[in-house]
Amino acid sequence: SWTTGNVIDEQVAAIREMVGDKRAICGLSGGVDSAVAAALVQKAIGSQLTCVYVDHGLMRKGETEQVEKDFVAATGVQLKVVDAEERFLKTLAGVSDPEQKRKIIGREFIRVFEQAQAEIIADEGPAVEFLVQGTLYPDVVESGGGTGTANIKSHHNVGGLPEDLEFKLIEPLRKLFKDEVRMVGQELGLPEEIVHRQPFPGPGLGIRIVGEVTKERLDLLREADAIAREELTAAGLDRDIWQCPVVLLADVRSVGVQGDGRTYGHPIVLRPVSSEDAMTADWSRLPYDVLAKISTRITNEVRDVNRVVLDVTSKPPGTIEWE
Ligand code: XMP
Repeated sequence: SWTTGNVIDEQVAAIREMVGDKRAICGLSGGVDSAVAAALVQKAIGSQLTCVYVDHGLMRKGETEQVEKDFVAATGVQLKVVDAEERFLKTLAGVSDPEQKRKIIGREFIRVFEQAQAEIIADEGPAVEFLVQGTLYPDVVESGGGTGTANIKSHHNVGGLPEDLEFKLIEPLRKLFKDEVRMVGQELGLPEEIVHRQPFPGPGLGIRIVGEVTKERLDLLREADAIAREELTAAGLDRDIWQCPVVLLADVRSVGVQGDGRTYGHPIVLRPVSSEDAMTADWSRLPYDVLAKISTRITNEVRDVNRVVLDVTSKPPGTIEWE
């Protein structure tokens, strides 16, 4: 019968057998899937696994610390953190177009990850032959199966690596659904905040700022987002909503009045949605008093924000994210 304990034992044995005395690497995104996959592989092969976390500076408040501190404390995993905030901000400077932002963030992410990968390969130790991925059953079905080997191309030949690096994939979550992955993560002792994290896009807050991405705007949005998350959690609504993007309309200003002065600040958009799979979604009918609390706190506590608006659009026609 299916138990999380059985799944863990089976996978640990299979991974040990597969990896032998070689090494493996795993990219952590802060999300549930990569965290649980990494924790499983860590349990199987310990220090033969090295994880890489690229800090692109586009994460929400506290999320990078969760990976760096709490995840490491819970698993004992060997982690290489690359602080790439400055690099990402520099490359994103002056860019407002959503697709261009996505392209830049994706491209830089791969470059930084490959650089870290090359450094790990160059370290003393057995050959790095394996790459861990948090592929879930729905991903397997969607892509029509797959052979289990990936061809990772190194486009710019970092550190004198061969043109084509071939890794064998370890995908310990290939037979699991999301709720099962969360159960395995819980059983492995991962922090609650990681196990129950709502979906968050790879490009992070970079696609939740309508307009140019700057450090100042990111800090603003991080504050507003943290307040919204805090109040939704306090109201016990985390399990009712699929996710709640918080968006900064950096290119928009409106007039307000605060204290005894006129303000000319930016609006924050709340985009709470309910969904089964993110393909379609409906806007969540949140209690007015929770919305009021979030609005009051954001306008009081976040500098330069003088208005909070609610997105009442379903998907379609709106997407969940604004960019
Ligand atoms: P949309 O905005 O297309 O989002 O309705 C659907 C779901 O996908 C997430 N999303 C992303 N996830 N990389 C990701 O890993 C991305 O580039 C990306 N864009 C959107 C979004 O948060 C929602 O859950």
